Amino acid sequence: MKLTILLNGQRCEVQRGITLAAALAGSPSRRSVSGKPRAALCGMGICHECRVTVDGHAQQRACQVLVREGMEVECEA
Ligand code: FES
Repeated sequence: MKLTILLNGQRCEVQRGITLAAALAGSPSRRSVSGKPRAALCGMGICHECRVTVDGHAQQRACQVLVREGMEVECEA
């Protein structure tokens, strides 16, 4: 079963019941200070490599957030 999130202003259908990091798998969520793409690494809330802005709240760890219908996600990358 799918739900819709808004990712950088674009509507995306994602699987219900998964983490935001899983929904973003394969997509860089931000860039390092040198400009290299960064994405989820540990998947358990320790490395902070998956940080995104969720519904206006910055620095949310995507691996610790379940997708919700209508959530607005902003990635730097
Ligand atoms: S992937 Fe490491 S904190 Fe989210």
